Amino acid sequence: MTIGHIKLNNGALMPEIGLGTWLGDAQGLLAETVTEAIRLGYRHIDCAKNYGNQKEIGDALTRTDVPREELFIVSKIWQNKHRPELVPGALDDILNELQLDYLDLLLIHFPHAQKPDVLTKDPTLDELEYVPIMDTWRAMEALVDSGKVRSIGVSNFTRSVLEKMIPQCRIVPAVNQVEIHPYNQSPALVKFCQSNGIAVTGYCPLGGVKINVMNDDLIKRIAEAHQCTPAQVALSWALSRGISVIPKTTNKLRLKENLKKIELSYDERHAIAQIKTHERKVDPGRNLKELDWVVHEDAVCPLI
Ligand SMILES: NC(=O)c1ccc[n+]([C@@H]2O[C@H](COP(=O)([O-])OP(=O)(O)OC[C@H]3O[C@@H](n4cnc5c(N)ncnc54)[C@H](OP(=O)(O)O)[C@@H]3O)[C@@H](O)[C@H]2O)c1
Repeated sequence: MTIGHIKLNNGALMPEIGLGTWLGDAQGLLAETVTEAIRLGYRHIDCAKNYGNQKEIGDALTRTDVPREELFIVSKIWQNKHRPELVPGALDDILNELQLDYLDLLLIHFPHAQKPDVLTKDPTLDELEYVPIMDTWRAMEALVDSGKVRSIGVSNFTRSVLEKMIPQCRIVPAVNQVEIHPYNQSPALVKFCQSNGIAVTGYCPLGGVKINVMNDDLIKRIAEAHQCTPAQVALSWALSRGISVIPKTTNKLRLKENLKKIELSYDERHAIAQIKTHERKVDPGRNLKELDWVVHEDAVCPLI
C-alpha cells in the first residue's frame, strides 16, 4: 500500500501514517507487530524512551531487510532529561536501545521538566523542576549538528509555549505531536502549527482505549456510507487536515486496515468538525493542577 508523506520544514519527508508503539499491557507482541507492520508497508515508527520497549523495536529493526534510509524512526526524551547536559546522553541511550546510528526525528515528550531521578507520568509538585525550555531546545539543536538526529520537534506543546519559543529558535521545531481525534480536534493549535511550518502528528488518533470515537454515531454513519470502518474514517479525517497519524494496534488485520485512506467529502469533514463531544486521553493537569498549562491554552504557565 502506498503511504503519502508530509514535507517537514527542513525538506525531510515524514510518512503520513506511522505505527504507535505505546502498548500498555500488550508488551511482548511488539517485535512481531513491528515486523508485520514493515512487511505491510509502514515505514514510520513512533517510539519513546518512556514506553519502555525500544529494545524490542530495535530487535525487529535489525531483522528487517528494508534499508535504513527508507524508515522514519521517531523517539522522545522524557521529562527527567530536560537539563541541557542530560540531553545528549538521553539520545545516546535511545539510539542504543533502538540499535540505530541516528533518528529521523527526536521530540521533547512534554514541555514540563521533572527532576532527573523522577520517571513517573504523574509527578508531584516536589518532583518537578524548572528548566527553561529554550535550554533544552538548544541542546536538541546541537544534536542535529552532531548528525545523530535528522529533525527535532516537540510533543504536547501549546500555541502559547510555541509562540514564546519560535523567535528564539535557530531550528524551528519540525513537528508538534499532540492528541488529535474527533473528540479533541484542536483547530487553533493545528492552524498555528501548520502556518508556522510545524507539521502536526496526531497521537491517539482513534481516541486510544478509553475514548469512544469509534462508536460515535456520525463516524459510524460515514463509515457505512463508504463501506469502511469507523477507524478508517477517524484516521482519514486527520489525514485530510494534513495531520500525520500514528495509530497503535497489535492486530494484524487492523494494521492493514489502518493504512487504507478514505476520501471524505467536504460535507463529511465539515460534519466531523462540528462534533461537540470533547474528551482528552492525556492531560497531566488532571492529577496536578499546576500542570494545567501543559495542554490547556488558557491556563497560566508558571514554569516556562
Ligand atoms: N506524545 C505523546 O504524549 C503520546 C501520548 C499517547 C500516545 N502517543 C503515541 O500515539 C500512539 C497511538 O495512541 P494510542 O495507542 O494511545 O491510541 P490509538 O492509536 O488512538 O488507539 C489504540 C487503540 O485502538 C485499537 N485499534 C487500533 N486500530 C483499530 C481499528 N482499526 N479498529 C478498532 N480498534 C483499533 C487498539 O487495539 P488493538 O491493539 O487491539 O487493535 C487500541 O486499543 C501511541 O501508541 C504512541 O505511539 C503519544
